[in-house]
Amino acid sequence: MALLEVLAYPNPVLRVTADSVTVFDDKLRKLISDMWETMYFSKGVGLAAPQIGLSMRVVVIDWEGERYALVNPRIVEEEGEERCEEGCLSFPGIYEEITRSTKIKVLYQDENSIEHDDVIEGFLARVFSHEIDHLDAKLLIDHLSPLKKTFLKKKMERKAKEQE
Ligand code: CO
Repeated sequence: MALLEVLAYPNPVLRVTADSVTVFDDKLRKLISDMWETMYFSKGVGLAAPQIGLSMRVVVIDWEGERYALVNPRIVEEEGEERCEEGCLSFPGIYEEITRSTKIKVLYQDENSIEHDDVIEGFLARVFSHEIDHLDAKLLIDHLSPLKKTFLKKKMERKAKEQE
């Protein structure tokens, strides 16, 4: 296994819509196991492939020991609404209250191309929605008011400049 670098905003890969996965081979399984390792190391509960620089529709999630590898995930039904604080490994140190659905139905394939059809509720539904957003180049700040979004964008851009 290998640790991968988690990219922070404003890295441009985070703004590219990811491509569907069509080949389920050992390379994909190795990528998923590297993503697990990277996610655990970074103390995240979810990680999407664009965050490690790959525009592929792949996500890993571990919420309270429930592990999911999602390939080509798609939310097909949503209900309920709840506001809750969430963070993102690509926005280190930033936590914001965001409204998300409380119950979702999601279709996806696993690393062996087996199709799944799950109903997910509670905070886990939030994690799924957040990670699937990444595949469509949608980020945490896109859910905020324009004022807050501009403020956080500038903050992240400043931070990136300082690290150059
Ligand atoms: Co994120």
